[in-house]
Amino acid sequence: MPNATAVINLDIEGPTISRHLYGHFAEHLGRCIYDGFWVGEDSPVPNEGGIRLDIVQALRALDIPNLRWPGGCFADEYHWKDGIGPRDERPRMVNTHWGNVEENNHFGTHEFMALCELLGAEPYISGNVGSGTVQEMSEWVEYLTRDGDSPMVRLRKANGREEPWRVKYWGIGNETWGCGGNMRAEYAADLSRQYATYCRDHGDNKLYRIASGASDDDYKWTETLMRQISCFGCEATPKNYFQGLSFHYYTIPGPWESKGNSIVFDTEDYYRTMVQARRVDRLIAGHSAVMDVYDPGRTVGLVLDEWGTWWDVEPGTNPGFLFQQNSLRDALVASTHFDIFHKHAARLHMANIAQTVNVLQAMILTDGDSLVLTPSYHVFEMNKGHQDATSLAVHLRADDARRTVGDTELDTLSASASAKDGRLLVSLSNLDAEEPAEITLDLRGRSIGTASARVLTADRLQDHNTPQTPAAVAPRAFDDVKVTDRGLALTLPPHSFLTLSAPLL
Ligand code: AHR
Repeated sequence: MPNATAVINLDIEGPTISRHLYGHFAEHLGRCIYDGFWVGEDSPVPNEGGIRLDIVQALRALDIPNLRWPGGCFADEYHWKDGIGPRDERPRMVNTHWGNVEENNHFGTHEFMALCELLGAEPYISGNVGSGTVQEMSEWVEYLTRDGDSPMVRLRKANGREEPWRVKYWGIGNETWGCGGNMRAEYAADLSRQYATYCRDHGDNKLYRIASGASDDDYKWTETLMRQISCFGCEATPKNYFQGLSFHYYTIPGPWESKGNSIVFDTEDYYRTMVQARRVDRLIAGHSAVMDVYDPGRTVGLVLDEWGTWWDVEPGTNPGFLFQQNSLRDALVASTHFDIFHKHAARLHMANIAQTVNVLQAMILTDGDSLVLTPSYHVFEMNKGHQDATSLAVHLRADDARRTVGDTELDTLSASASAKDGRLLVSLSNLDAEEPAEITLDLRGRSIGTASARVLTADRLQDHNTPQTPAAVAPRAFDDVKVTDRGLALTLPPHSFLTLSAPLL
């Protein structure tokens, strides 16, 4: 059994872990919005103004910080004026990216903002660069955020909303290298500057403009964008066109044509998945290194506004709907990502899991009026104490906690820690499929009070939750934490995620 030590200096504070690293993403894709968040006012499913209330309740329990909408690829064919006014008069369109289904625009700007208000989450709106216009995007910002009197303000008021909303996070396009217009980086950079120029700060509403960035390890894209979108040290106003630059990374262990099933996989598939999940560490470091060249003061945030597992769709479901199950394997992908996010908190300002409901690595799966919380949901819940906490570096000494996977070595232990409101929170993942791991938490610099812990695991990595077995993978209390002269000691079960919390004295 691997024997590891995690040294944590409780008195050496790192950067703040932005709560926005726990952000979410909801696209007009499959059953995320329609038959997901949105059931309509006439639905027998309990709702407020058409928004499904059990979903709201479940997400509020995560302290969901923000929600990105309306896409994804859909954002670049979405025309916001089609989604305002009386619902039965709204124009329809075809959602060409996702299933070629008809979009009735019943869920639009007002519905999205109402959803954010119910969730207590900040909106993150992704504007259309691929097939929209500068004027269209500029007017959307005006419609949402301007006070007083103006053409868009009058339109908003005519649609029943007197007060402007507050919107901070604004995406300028999505995947401009692909579904968002198939552009070259140089062109995307110029276009992004142009669009950003007309996304105005109205009154005291200050936008955090996010340029659509790279995929995976395309550092050249990041380099071009950073070189062309930033204006550091130049005399022009505004000094910076953007406050954030995005990139996307999905955990896909197989080839695109055969990504594998979400719950039918073997141990080898599992380890390959975890190697791919851990790759995000190098990617964040790589994009950050490029950004450091142009922005050494780290004023521009890196925004991973799409991440998560991407499997083959569940057999029998619409291939364009990206519906997949979610097992303990997905939960460990999430817990590993969060440890890595915490480590990069100085540059990484936001991350958005794709996607919140019924699509890809969802938090929630619905079937009619039933709702299931996925294993990934529980990781978000168990980790929520890290939001806006001060990160504490964890030094892991775990030489024998390794697996050889093809020609790579997979570290099978992952950890992170933070402090907030006088409490320590430690997250530990044992990625080994079979072996438990003994861990000593060597806590230095401060003392702690009595610790309590919870563990998320199951008999099999393939285990998942269904309406019939909703708690097959759910957190339970973990009592076997020993106090030693160096701190704490515990044995992590194989394929498990554990959080430990204690008052700091
Ligand atoms: O999340 C699904 C899709 O993945 C998004 O629409 C797109 O941005 C990405 O390619």
